[in-house]
Amino acid sequence: MANIRNIVILTGAGISAESGLRTFRAEDGLWEDHRVEDVATPEAFIRDPDLVQRFYDARRAGVQEAQPNPAHEALARLDSQWDDELLIVTQNIDDLHERAGAGRVLHMHGEALSAWCTACNARHRWLATLADGPACPSCGTAAMRPDIVWFGEMPYRMEEIFAALARADLFVSIGTSGAVYPAAGFVQQAGAHGARTMELNLDRSQGSHWFDDTRLGPASVLVPQWVDDLLGG
Ligand code: APR
Repeated sequence: MANIRNIVILTGAGISAESGLRTFRAEDGLWEDHRVEDVATPEAFIRDPDLVQRFYDARRAGVQEAQPNPAHEALARLDSQWDDELLIVTQNIDDLHERAGAGRVLHMHGEALSAWCTACNARHRWLATLADGPACPSCGTAAMRPDIVWFGEMPYRMEEIFAALARADLFVSIGTSGAVYPAAGFVQQAGAHGARTMELNLDRSQGSHWFDDTRLGPASVLVPQWVDDLLGG
């Protein structure tokens, strides 16, 4: 593991599966019960805001009940012991990386525990429901929406993420199916700039052939092992 200084880690729903949060594309995944176009697009929010708010109210409640698992904890340990740059980019809307103690986490698809006001654009930490049409604490308008990047919207923090990928010596993808861009393309970006690339996942992801190495298994086992290898080597 010599010569590795800058690390970018991409995480997806698989890293939180063992914390009890459902993934999207499994047989028992969230997209089996709900059509993406009914609950996770700007058009859906215009058509049936109540349905969309209730869907994310349920996600927000689930996130608050979940606890970090050994995979989140191992990444937090790595973060605290790594002297050079380590950036966790997550597609997840839960806060389990932060609660495990990780420092720098970018939520490219938004956060369940945040809401933003479509009237004044203020963002607020949000633990309660949104379906009952609460007033914005900043401007008083009842126009709060989940702070989630829906299909058809621009992911957050992309400039920072692409800059980090260009500097990375190692790119590691954990618990994501590689079905959704731009995150699915990060392996190619990092690889094109010379980073080693590795995936840790239960099954091979759609872009598995792009990675230099693949380790298959549950994140709660693979991630602590990989962190031990990295810190020990
Ligand atoms: N450990 C490791 N990997 C796991 C585990 C586990 N315990 N359980 C499931 N996985 C893997 C699955 O094999 C799958 O490849 O996690 C991946 C989850 O894939 P998806 O459900 O597609 O989730 P994700 O890749 O995060 O989805 C990307 O799609 O719907 C949107 O915005 C949503 O951020 C999400 C994006």
